[in-house]
Amino acid sequence: MKTISVKTGVPYEIYIQRGILQQTGSYTRTITDSDHAVIVTDDIVDKLYTQQVKASLEQEGFLVDVFVFPHGESSKSMQTLSNLFNFLTEKQITRKDFIVALGGGVVGDLAGFAAASYLRGIDFIQIPTTFLAQIDSSVGGKTAVDIEAGKNLVGAFHQPRLVLCDPDSLKTLSDEIFADGVAEAIKYGCIQSESLFDTLLNGDIQAHLEEIIFECISIKRDVVEQDEFDRGQRMLLNFGHTLGHAIEKIYHYETYTHGQAVAVGMCLITNLAEQYGLTEAGCSQKIRQACERYHLPVELNLSSEELVQNSLNDKKREKSNLNLILIHTIGKGYIYRVTVEEYKKFVSGEYQCK
Ligand SMILES: NC(=O)c1ccc[n+]([C@@H]2O[C@H](COP(=O)([O-])OP(=O)(O)OC[C@H]3O[C@@H](n4cnc5c(N)ncnc54)[C@H](O)[C@@H]3O)[C@@H](O)[C@H]2O)c1
Ligand SMILES: [Zn+2]
Repeated sequence: MKTISVKTGVPYEIYIQRGILQQTGSYTRTITDSDHAVIVTDDIVDKLYTQQVKASLEQEGFLVDVFVFPHGESSKSMQTLSNLFNFLTEKQITRKDFIVALGGGVVGDLAGFAAASYLRGIDFIQIPTTFLAQIDSSVGGKTAVDIEAGKNLVGAFHQPRLVLCDPDSLKTLSDEIFADGVAEAIKYGCIQSESLFDTLLNGDIQAHLEEIIFECISIKRDVVEQDEFDRGQRMLLNFGHTLGHAIEKIYHYETYTHGQAVAVGMCLITNLAEQYGLTEAGCSQKIRQACERYHLPVELNLSSEELVQNSLNDKKREKSNLNLILIHTIGKGYIYRVTVEEYKKFVSGEYQCK
């Protein structure tokens, strides 16, 4: 068993252990006096894991209700949120009760935001069941839903009271969804840990899964503790994401998953930074190899204009600044400030170093 303590405003523990889902009840007992829980999950995860989580909670004396919604990003909406609020009132959930977010990042973000706002905030615990959710979205307290104008535009910072990561629950993931999380793990390696990167590039990821989850979460924990409300250092976690988000947007969030888009984003930005001498030569090739190992895409046929246009907020003016996340070398991320004008040149390959 591995444990990580997160010392944000409300501190909490993250436990990583195979089979921990079956002990949900006893872990939950340590953080609440309530007797009533609502498990929030999607239809796929419901069939796989709700029963064991519910049974474990019931064994500890909790009354458990279950709210299930259809899987997929389109459920991370105001509509599902509203249905969930109605469900919580119907079940007479009070301020001392709590929500259990059981599933991937969609469940965690939606259930977390419901917990942040229902009755001005109730407790919630995270039981992430995708690799991405275990190493990324379940840690850090960002919760949100999507609205028509864009993704994650309505949300809140609300830290979970407890996170339970069961590496065994990842066995039922498709290779593609698993690889989505690997892209984020490669990102952590790039910005903070060469040894993690080497394991992902050459090692046996399944054999080291628990350690990898532990290391990724530790990196995120360190960054989040320094910058809980995302005003500075936390930006390092956006390595590969500026172009990644542009790619997701260009393809209307359909053709490429988030992890796939981030993989291309990391390769592109590092390739460019190498040309300008801002990243040690050879890094982009290594990142490429790591991504290819998990069948993540590494390049796309997109023009620099398309990429720039879709990675900038429309209101950004030419002289305003932008924080690019680059790496000096594998394991050493840094923030590089450019103006919008410079960014355009950067992406089109015409940038002159300062
Ligand atoms: N809050 C944050 O800090 C943060 C960070 C990164 C991403 N996110 C958000 O996370 C979401 C993406 O998360 P995701 O990739 O986990 O997507 P997801 O929650 O949609 O899960 C992907 C698919 O896997 C299925 N699934 C989940 N667990 C499974 C399991 N154990 N076995 C089989 N199938 C399983 C789900 O039903 C779903 O169909 C996005 O909405 C993104 O905005 C949030
Ligand atoms: Zn990401």
